[in-house]
Amino acid sequence: MQTLTVEAVDPRSDEAFRRWFSVLTAAHPVDQPHLPPPVLTEARDDAPPPDDPYDRWHHLVAVAGGESVGAARIELTSDSPNLAYFELVVRPDQRRRGIGSALLAGVESWVLGSGRAVALSETRRPFQDEREGGAGPDGGAAFAERHGYRAGPVSVLRTLDLPVAEQRLAAADPGPVPGYRVVTWTDRCPEELLEARAALNTEMSTDDPAAGTHRQAEVWDGARVRAYEDRSISHGRRKLCAGAVHERTGELVAATVIAGVGAQRTHVHQWGTVVGRKHRGHRLGMLVKVANLRHLASAWPEARQISSWNGDANASMIAINAALGYRVVGDGTDWEKVLGSSPSVGERVRR
Ligand SMILES: CC(C)(COP(=O)(O)OP(=O)(O)OC[C@H]1O[C@@H](n2cnc3c(N)ncnc32)[C@H](O)[C@@H]1OP(=O)(O)O)[C@@H](O)C(=O)NCCC(=O)NCCS
Repeated sequence: MQTLTVEAVDPRSDEAFRRWFSVLTAAHPVDQPHLPPPVLTEARDDAPPPDDPYDRWHHLVAVAGGESVGAARIELTSDSPNLAYFELVVRPDQRRRGIGSALLAGVESWVLGSGRAVALSETRRPFQDEREGGAGPDGGAAFAERHGYRAGPVSVLRTLDLPVAEQRLAAADPGPVPGYRVVTWTDRCPEELLEARAALNTEMSTDDPAAGTHRQAEVWDGARVRAYEDRSISHGRRKLCAGAVHERTGELVAATVIAGVGAQRTHVHQWGTVVGRKHRGHRLGMLVKVANLRHLASAWPEARQISSWNGDANASMIAINAALGYRVVGDGTDWEKVLGSSPSVGERVRR
């Protein structure tokens, strides 16, 4: 039997990072066939710099017989000082040999060493066909349960073929909405809307039903929005954004983002859509999403498909996506485990 080791990876070392990334590439067609393959530069450049004030990532690789057979990435954020989020994947031809369990032990031990007591992850299932609910067996869920993780909220993956016919967009478009005007921008939020954009991010972090019981509100200000924008731009991720401005106050009260990577933006991603609490009920969510799909058609006409994750309890967003023609292609479950059992750790968890 070959020796299995679990090693830390320095993302700045090109060779080590390629070995880690090779596991993601091998697993992608099996685990996430409806999404475009991972991009090496994006995975590497996404890692926050060592002195980043908000986020810290740690990469682990499982090696057997000189080959990379498993990969994990742990993400810590300053907002929730008790939590660690991780992704963990084993090469499909190496599964059911204990590699995932060994890697998970390495993840949990590192998380505890970092002073955090709650580990969160996500498992995903591609659907076998286009019928909702046609998913295959969920090996990731069996693995998570086996290791004492508790199932949390479920999210659903949907895709929409592009371009969306103008007739469909016109039918879905609630605009103009009296009292509000639509704005669009690319990559960097206009300066006069920046602080309101940050406030919307904070609201979104507490709204998300997938946020889990231990997650705390994110604290956003304009400087943090700019830091994320700059990091994205520097590694080739572009963002098309649309928002709604409340005309009386001049404040940005709704926003939505479509992200694309590299020069070939044939598949793009729908990111967060948020409407400020005081401005809900005016169909601003649909207003900004339709505006951004039109923005997408003119800015990136090469886009052929867009994907979107929604919490399965997020009825309003699901209704918007259904009206736009999105179809279900997979789902995912959040998992959570309290790792520490000492009284001091328990105390930190409860807060
Ligand atoms: C989930 C995953 C990491 C498991 O890796 P692995 O190396 O096969 O895991 P192990 O061999 O250590 O499995 C440990 C136990 O988990 C359970 N398990 C793992 N895969 C399973 C499957 N497909 N069906 C049922 N049980 C499974 C079993 O109890 C297994 O023990 P056994 O083989 O003695 O019956 C791997 O299938 C994978 O990469 N999936 C895609 C990504 C993912 O879901 N990650 C999990 C994040 S929490």
